Amino acid sequence: MKVLVINGSPRADQCTATALEEMMKTLQAEGVETELVHVGKTNIRGCISCNYCRKHGRCMFKDIVNETAQKFEEADGIIVGSPVYFSSPNGTLLSFLDRLFYSTSFSKHMKVGAAVVSCRRGGATASFDVLNKYFTISGMTVAGSTYWNQVHGFTAEDVKKDLEGLQTMRNLARNMAFLMKAIADAKEKYGLPKQELEAFTSFPDGK
Ligand SMILES: Cc1cc2nc3c(=O)[nH]c(=O)nc-3n(C[C@H](O)[C@H](O)[C@H](O)COP(=O)(O)O)c2cc1C
Repeated sequence: MKVLVINGSPRADQCTATALEEMMKTLQAEGVETELVHVGKTNIRGCISCNYCRKHGRCMFKDIVNETAQKFEEADGIIVGSPVYFSSPNGTLLSFLDRLFYSTSFSKHMKVGAAVVSCRRGGATASFDVLNKYFTISGMTVAGSTYWNQVHGFTAEDVKKDLEGLQTMRNLARNMAFLMKAIADAKEKYGLPKQELEAFTSFPDGK
């Protein structure tokens, strides 16, 4: 079992990192391997809708998105962590996720996703909702916890004092490990559920 961990914050060792670290420790204790990719300080441009990826199976911009794609394909689950910027995930992370999810054609069906957000005071659930949508449109399963997956603070020290936030991260990691193991077993027993992909309707008349 392997989980890819994305830190969208430009601050590699502060609040989001503290929450992710708590999850990684717990996952490792559950026998799950983790790999951390820090994207927040990288120069990542947004998707330009050129559809190069439709032909080539990768984004035309040769950067961390394509480098991460293979790691995502091999992973059983993904954790995406973000600081809250004006009640949304931070912009660099959104550019990264738009291009990662749009440019990759490998199946994400029944991979397990978990979104984690860090804010000083507000905007956590709005940001959490945005991140979960990358998972649910991709046929993934979303792991839950004992509260919404958020921590609070302006520094790593603040987050270390957010005991409920860290508890939420540990419970989330355990639920994620359980789901990945259960899905692997169920895949062997039943196979993956059928997915119909033929219809692609953009207009009410179906054309
Ligand atoms: C541009 C910017 C916008 C922010 N907007 C919010 C916000 O809307 N709500 C909030 O509670 N904190 C906001 N913050 C604070 C950070 O979200 C918060 O301190 C977070 O825990 C930092 O995580 P990090 O240390 O991983 O970067 C903002 C910070 C920045 C730099």
